[in-house]
Amino acid sequence: MEEEIKKDVQSMLTPFRYEHCVRTAKKAEELAIRWGYSPKIARIVALAHDMAKDLSYEQYIQYAQENEIILSKEDKLVKVHLHGIIAAKMCEKKYQFTKEMTDAIFYHTTARDNMTLLDKIIYVADKIEDGRDYEGIEELRIMAMQNLDEAILESIHYSIKKCIKQQKYIHSLSIVARNDLLSKRSNRI
Ligand SMILES: [Fe+2]
Ligand SMILES: [Fe+2]
Repeated sequence: MEEEIKKDVQSMLTPFRYEHCVRTAKKAEELAIRWGYSPKIARIVALAHDMAKDLSYEQYIQYAQENEIILSKEDKLVKVHLHGIIAAKMCEKKYQFTKEMTDAIFYHTTARDNMTLLDKIIYVADKIEDGRDYEGIEELRIMAMQNLDEAILESIHYSIKKCIKQQKYIHSLSIVARNDLLSKRSNRI
């Protein structure tokens, strides 16, 4: 299945995006080993996570209509979230991914409440793969190996701040994810 996914992803994406998927898979494998999850599943899901990224907005809407995917107003406002929703459905149909696997793809842009270990691995691997470069990434890479929840919280804060700066809509899933992680942190103290 892995080779098939690799081929499909390569044919659906620009070389730049395909390389991002390969690097995300490598990082997801490292995180899975560190945090006690199946490296193979983490690798496969990470490989496929952005497979719908090069489709247009119109294509997302059309795919959703053809596949009985209900998109909320908010989903449509946060356009970047749509590629995860569509890729999750594609993987379910094409490779019979389990719900756990498709959920990790579905939520890889926004995060969510009560994230599974696979959600966390994919979310973080996507943000810290070796090709990424932004302020604070080195600290985030170290944090991901020490405290996965803190790394997610940091990463959500980073993207929320970016949305505010650019006056972009913030998906409520990200706010809920942030509050969930914060509340669990205060319980630990
Ligand atoms: Fe993505
Ligand atoms: Fe990605």
